[in-house]
Amino acid sequence: MEDFEKLGAFYLGRPYDLKEKKPGQGLVLYDSRDLVTHAVCVGMTGSGKTGLCVDLLEEAAIDGIPSIIIDPKGDLANLLLTFPDLSTADFAPWVNEEDAQKKNLSTNDYATSQAELWKKGLADWGQDGARIKRLRDAADFRIYTPGSNAGIPVSILKSFAAPPESIRDDNELMTERVNTTVTSLLGLLGIEADPIKSREHILISNILNSAWAEGRDLDIAGLIHQIQTPLMTRVGVLDVESFFPSKDRFELAMSLNNLLAAPGFSTWMEGEPLDIQQILHTPEGKPRVAIFSIAHLGDAERMFFVALLLNQTLGWMRTQSGTTSLRAILYMDEIFGYFPPVANPPSKLPLLTLLKQGRAFGLGVVLVTQNPVDLDYKGLSNTGTWFIGRLQTERDKARVLEGLEGIAAGSGQRFDRQQMEQTLAGLSNRIFLLNNVHEDGTEVFESRWAMSYLRGPLTRTQIKSLMQRTKAQTTAAPPVPVVAAQVPATAPAPEPAQAASPVTSAASQRPVLPPDVSQFFIPVRVGEGNSTLMYQPMLLGAAEVHFSDSKSLEMTQQVSLLATINDGPVAVDWARAETIDLPFADLEQTANEDAQFAGLPSTASKAKNYTAWKKDFANWVYRNQRLQLLESPSLDLASNPGESERDFRVRLQLLAREKRDEAVEKLRQKFAPRLTAMEERKRRAEQAVAREAEQASGQKMQTAISFGATLLSSFFGRKTLSLTNLGRATTAVRGVSRSMKESSDVGRAQETVEAVNQQLADLDAQLKSETEAIQQAGDPQTETLEKVSLKPTRANIDVKLVTLAWAPYWRDEQGQTTPAWQ
Ligand SMILES: Nc1ncnc2c1ncn2[C@@H]1O[C@H](COP(=O)(O)OP(=O)(O)O)[C@@H](O)[C@H]1O
Ligand SMILES: [Mg+2]
Repeated sequence: MEDFEKLGAFYLGRPYDLKEKKPGQGLVLYDSRDLVTHAVCVGMTGSGKTGLCVDLLEEAAIDGIPSIIIDPKGDLANLLLTFPDLSTADFAPWVNEEDAQKKNLSTNDYATSQAELWKKGLADWGQDGARIKRLRDAADFRIYTPGSNAGIPVSILKSFAAPPESIRDDNELMTERVNTTVTSLLGLLGIEADPIKSREHILISNILNSAWAEGRDLDIAGLIHQIQTPLMTRVGVLDVESFFPSKDRFELAMSLNNLLAAPGFSTWMEGEPLDIQQILHTPEGKPRVAIFSIAHLGDAERMFFVALLLNQTLGWMRTQSGTTSLRAILYMDEIFGYFPPVANPPSKLPLLTLLKQGRAFGLGVVLVTQNPVDLDYKGLSNTGTWFIGRLQTERDKARVLEGLEGIAAGSGQRFDRQQMEQTLAGLSNRIFLLNNVHEDGTEVFESRWAMSYLRGPLTRTQIKSLMQRTKAQTTAAPPVPVVAAQVPATAPAPEPAQAASPVTSAASQRPVLPPDVSQFFIPVRVGEGNSTLMYQPMLLGAAEVHFSDSKSLEMTQQVSLLATINDGPVAVDWARAETIDLPFADLEQTANEDAQFAGLPSTASKAKNYTAWKKDFANWVYRNQRLQLLESPSLDLASNPGESERDFRVRLQLLAREKRDEAVEKLRQKFAPRLTAMEERKRRAEQAVAREAEQASGQKMQTAISFGATLLSSFFGRKTLSLTNLGRATTAVRGVSRSMKESSDVGRAQETVEAVNQQLADLDAQLKSETEAIQQAGDPQTETLEKVSLKPTRANIDVKLVTLAWAPYWRDEQGQTTPAWQ
């Protein structure tokens, strides 16, 4: 197995000879990079689609690639059933009791037989417990259960949060996002709405659109409130009242509120936010296999959730950098109903966009269906990989043939319809036809034995017990209280744990300052119902600090500090100042209306004090400001300022994969032609042996081609070698010729064969050693990162301003104050 591990080659199975009805030689290795053009897997129920895709997801996990898995039937949770010891005790809790009873076995005896079955199955495919352990260790496996507490619950509250700027700035994407969100929300309410005709749809779309365009988040409670009292006055040319009278709007608001107040609905509000960036890796930067189990949901809820998840994935994807390597997988088992050719459910548009744009961002989409007629062919015409399993009806076969013919035409390949028809007819369980546009021709193969125990759908209780430990470890966000319709959900910000409030006595008049003392106002960013706004005089220091190191690393950091001003001997102490996250440009020239002002210490009204404070500030920055970075020794790269270790490791992993894929590609270009040429020479030499032997014996011999390919040469040579050469059984040309050694011509020809064989072995050894060099590369997920701390030079500190800044605070009736700018 070692030959291809760590090269980004997914071990999916071995070639299968349909005529002989037996496995061929070699392995079927799939290039991880090919998946960026997506894959589709079709075949009738029981044909082994899910099994094959479990293989693929296992291989991806081993390769450090995270995946988002949508699991409508509950089969994919089997990915958590991995037992390196393959013991009876491991299997016993998971075996299907009914199957045991049918076989008249006790649970334990049945578990023993299943464990044996798995051990043997894996051994037949060259796999063992060590590889299972490797899989388990490679990723964090999780089952999320939206709307349920069985697995890890998912909070959808955030889903009405404004999408990232990359989406907001793109008109088309933004319209799509608004549309699908509204359609799925209305679907949840049982309203099947036409985006163009339904006034519900139009109104909510308008509300979402105007909030999001300004970067404002909404939650369901806020939405309910706005449906009743919309901020806009017109919809199109009509005023809101005649477009959608308030009496009717109230009804819509009520049905949303009822949804919110329904007893089961609170589980939709608890748990982890649907934040794809956080879901794809653990806090330590380990890839995650995130299984979203939706078997327990009703149809409308499923659609709502799937559309939401797809939209979130789309939003996440758009914030990623471009790559040519595989970054993550989005997998959906049984796509039925979510991607139909004619209708337009809320899931379809985001899925289409993901298929269209995923490639650039390294997101590989894998879709599975038992019914090829269910798929939107327009969306799939660009899908690079097809896994076609056993099909049931002639209509299904015809549909698939049509699809394959289209792909062949698109890539200028020859298409033999009749032969393909025969192939499709010959497929049986776990035997698939692989059509990959990145390779020449098609290949029939048998899927390898899955490492995960494929016991079928897991029950709620089983999911619960699988996720119990994980749930205990994660400190889930506290449940958010359900808010009734009339009360807008502006939860008060928690009181900051500040010992002394800086707000002193109030003097509601704004103090008068000499003209040479500059002053600014910090903008009010958070609102606070009944409190009074109070301005406190503070000293704001802001600087730009430039860092550089020997390795051509250049970075600039902003430092802004807010210090109190006192009348005592030490008027300003920068060491006790607070950092404030505020671009200079946001400072305002005028105060908010109706605000009160605290008294001004006399030191603050003398201009020359500011000159001294400015010098102090520069000194403080020089002594204290450091740029803390992490450096990866294996990739010789430093983290960005503000980048967490986790995010840095996630970034490094992709970089390492890109480098690896590039190195593999180079090796391929270097070795493939040499391997091809060598194998051709070998073929000719063997033919010569056969010819000579034939002449010597006077009897017609069948010439067969021996293809002494090792795993490596089949992996590296596959993309250019004609596939008809591959996988043919070797016949014992050598054995035949040995018996005819008396002919010297045969002997000479035989010597040539051996010489070529030797050269081929040498080439293979060379390839192997160069491959090892790629495999040796350090693992950025676990390597020790070096900590670097850079200090600035005095010349590199650019103090932008040290000025009197009025800081706004909210003061409630009890005299408690909270900052109003953050
Ligand atoms: N790769 C595999 N390794 C071991 N068993 C498999 C594999 N693929 C399929 N099977 C067996 O075949 C059964 C049906 O396969 P499955 O993948 O569930 O079919 P489908 O998803 O096409 O309906 C599985 O329950 C399992 O017992
Ligand atoms: Mg299945």
